[in-house]
Amino acid sequence: MRFSDDFIQELKDRNDISEVISEYVTLKRKGRNLFGLCPFHSEKTASFCVYPGNGVFICFGCGAGGDVITFIRLIEKFDYLETIKFLAQRAGVPLPEIEKDDGMYKKKMLVYEINREVARFYHNCLCEKIGKKALDYLLGRGIKMHTIKHFGLGYAPPGGHSAVDYMKEKGYREKDLIIANVGMSSRWGRCYDRFRDRVMFPIIDLRGNVIAFGGRVMEGGQAKYLNTSDTIVFKKSDNIFAVNFAKNKVKDNLILAEGYMDVISLHQAGFENAVATLGTALTDGQAKLMSRFANEVIISYDSDEAGKKATQRAIKILRRGGMSVKVLSIPKGKDPDEFMKAYGKDAGVRFRNLIENSANDVEYRLGIIRSSYNLEKSDEKVKYLDECLKILCELSSPIECEIYAGKLSEEVGVEKKLILLQVDKMKKRSVKIKEKADFRDIQKNISGKMSNLSCVERTSLREIRAEEALLSVIINNQDMVNNISQEVSSDLFMSELNKKIYETVCRLSSEGRNIDVTTISSVGEFSPSETGYITKIMCSYVAAADIKRDLSEYICVIKNENQFRRLNDVENVEDDKIKNYIENLRQVKK
Ligand code: CTP
Ligand code: MN
Repeated sequence: MRFSDDFIQELKDRNDISEVISEYVTLKRKGRNLFGLCPFHSEKTASFCVYPGNGVFICFGCGAGGDVITFIRLIEKFDYLETIKFLAQRAGVPLPEIEKDDGMYKKKMLVYEINREVARFYHNCLCEKIGKKALDYLLGRGIKMHTIKHFGLGYAPPGGHSAVDYMKEKGYREKDLIIANVGMSSRWGRCYDRFRDRVMFPIIDLRGNVIAFGGRVMEGGQAKYLNTSDTIVFKKSDNIFAVNFAKNKVKDNLILAEGYMDVISLHQAGFENAVATLGTALTDGQAKLMSRFANEVIISYDSDEAGKKATQRAIKILRRGGMSVKVLSIPKGKDPDEFMKAYGKDAGVRFRNLIENSANDVEYRLGIIRSSYNLEKSDEKVKYLDECLKILCELSSPIECEIYAGKLSEEVGVEKKLILLQVDKMKKRSVKIKEKADFRDIQKNISGKMSNLSCVERTSLREIRAEEALLSVIINNQDMVNNISQEVSSDLFMSELNKKIYETVCRLSSEGRNIDVTTISSVGEFSPSETGYITKIMCSYVAAADIKRDLSEYICVIKNENQFRRLNDVENVEDDKIKNYIENLRQVKK
């Protein structure tokens, strides 16, 4: 899929970057640029910057960056084409014809359509004679008819061909039913139903598309749930059940439950901000998705051992996603669905009460540690304190830390000052360890091609800088690219990433195309963080009086360092090669 450079340019011109970003982020003007809190990672000080002049944004905290297209792609979690469509619609720019014959786009639309049709089919089956058993099952579990309609619950008949036959009758091809994973291909090439004799839960994305299904058996025997495998429109670990309903019901927080049935019961009882993962452990992607409309998540998992473990994991992931976390515990080890059923009419009020009394994540974790020590004994008290200190170390807010240190101090009879001092010490130690690890990472990155890093470490940084500077000049002076590309082979580059950027720029130039972040990024298939890096390079450009001289200096450094590196590879370097190298260096100095 490729749009013309003119079209992309027009799209960008008509979607002013500061205007678009302002719809998501509160921006404050400082001079010519705008600053705000980065929407892509959690932060308290504004390191997210928009440069209206260049039409780009950069976050100095997490490295995200790019133009208005990158921004929308990241924030709306759209793919490239969805982003283009979104921006075109926003600005009222007609999409060129090209869109209509894009393969992937068409395929995705078809899968959405198939899923919607099949969801309708399952729902109708539930309401007809064939689905009586399933309907009775749901009603028997306390789910009301209007809830069943609201969630579009359904029933997949047994047999093995009903959905497939129904869809084929409607004109859909077996091949496409298999792509959507509502059909499967048998060993003999026949297409049969993926879901048989199950209660069906459609999974719907933020924009209201049916993207997948979960199917529950009504009797034991087989795996309780079967879900749609990952398809071109569905990735299990990136999606959340009921997010389509919850996103508009969130006042400030979401309730995170474990299963479909929990969510449905909660919604029925009036807690329409409840969601669940789809049978896998919570991921960072899901936390990000939630953080788009909630500041706080109340974890409401089962209170059994597995649930407790999952809770501890989820706390970390949700915090990392920038949200505050509370943990609700249901007495007697019940899950929300069982709770609703057990208390009937009162359940709503009781559950609201549980929400109000839920502990925040720190209290919850401290409580769990406390329950495993006998604080009457001094040695256990020491161990208890030690574990609690580790939790305090993770808190980024000093106020929070102070409050829990105070509580701990009262509990164990150790001065608060001492506790805080110890936390401080441990924090410093862990920062040092992290710095060391970071440094090792950087070294690894740079050393890519080299075995003996220590002696070239200093010079490699020099070369990387020269590479970046060279890229920054040519991205900003497109008329120079062709000449440079003849003089500088991409093999001279030390950083693989810089090399790839350079090759992409040269390629675009030879094809006579526009060189900007979007085109570089889409032609080179760069990741969002790589796009951020390219944006940073582009913006670091300072127009110099004599670009040509600067350029030749960068090229000189790149060539020399490359030569030096090659000399390093060889054990016994011949004398005249070294002389040559030194002579070259002298030239640069002059
Ligand atoms: N799950 C799954 N595959 C399984 C079991 C569970 O994908 N074999 C997922 C489903 O998304 C399910 C969630 O894990 O909703 C939680 O599992 P569980 O608590 O067992 O299911 P409930 O939704 O509570 O269903 P029910 O109350 O009917 O047992
Ligand atoms: Mn359950």
